[in-house]
Amino acid sequence: MKTSKFFSGSSAEDIDRAAKSLFEGNLVAFPTETVYGLGADASNEDAVKRIYQVKDRPVDHPLIVHVNSMQAMGHWVSSVPEYATELARVYWPGPMTLILKRSCLAKDFITGHQDTVGIRIPGHPIALALLDAFSNLGGHGIAAPSANKFGQVSPTSADAVFEEISQKLGSTDLILDGGECDIGIESTIIDCTTENPILLRPGAISVGMIQDSVGNLLEYEKSNTSVRTSGSFERHYSPRCKIIIGGTPVEGEGYFAMIEYETPKDVIRLGSPRNADEFAHLLYKSFRRADQIGLKSMVVELPTTDGIGFAIRDRILKAANGRHDIP
Ligand code: TXA
Ligand code: MG
Repeated sequence: MKTSKFFSGSSAEDIDRAAKSLFEGNLVAFPTETVYGLGADASNEDAVKRIYQVKDRPVDHPLIVHVNSMQAMGHWVSSVPEYATELARVYWPGPMTLILKRSCLAKDFITGHQDTVGIRIPGHPIALALLDAFSNLGGHGIAAPSANKFGQVSPTSADAVFEEISQKLGSTDLILDGGECDIGIESTIIDCTTENPILLRPGAISVGMIQDSVGNLLEYEKSNTSVRTSGSFERHYSPRCKIIIGGTPVEGEGYFAMIEYETPKDVIRLGSPRNADEFAHLLYKSFRRADQIGLKSMVVELPTTDGIGFAIRDRILKAANGRHDIP
């Protein structure tokens, strides 16, 4: 039983209350199928500023605006290329964010002064219900980054949100508890402002799925100098625990690998996924657990690159990189 005043259930009444609270300028952390988001009214500058304070995030990093329909997206964007409409038709609601040319209503405090805006229609029923209730009040969209401290591991449960940011929340902010996130890693981000789509951050909507839908996809570009995607920064998604890629763990180390890998003696097993989907679902939870029990290092065996495996490898490599310059 969760006793903190921040936790809210997710009944229809709870969701209405949370939407009203958002509309009044408070923050509401909520579940999506990828990870938990820290939400604010995307039209309210003061509320959005608080997201940055709570996360300790640099203010020039743009936020994703979550909406409940293509019609609602129209408020925030000025033009949508045909291929983006096709992607949206196939993969929304779902774990995909499209970067589009912004309208004059997507202000600098959302876009980090860029002329583009990130939009997502999430597939999680609680997120959609919250967006519907918010829209019924007259709201246009909910800005929500992952509900973690900047550079840390995204939360995939309400408890993980509490652990990350509760110290910075105000007495009228809320955490909507919707259990564990299904997917467990952040959405696929696709830049749709150029002739062909560009993959900025891989996710559960895989390269193959995007190509099936639109073809002509430019491969994953690690850094696009004109666009700021914090996932492309070196130190990211990092637990305090050092992440070692592959190899045999030694006594006292953590270990995360597919179920067929045996656990050597005196090694702490942190996850044994049976497939790539389970791998993604369990990964951040294992990072968090490693920190909770004070492990200094853990070995993670990379999955294969197909499907969501490509995105999982991206997150593990970043988590491992992120440790190089930390004493
Ligand atoms: O799965 C997700 O995408 C989650 C859930 C809550 O929706 N959100 C999420 O947000 O991961 P965040 O802020 O932690 O990561 C979104 C990334 C950031 O690195 C941000 O810089 C990038 O998307 N982004 C947002 N708007 C952008 C834009 N206009 N151009 C380029 N990158 C953008
Ligand atoms: Mg994030």
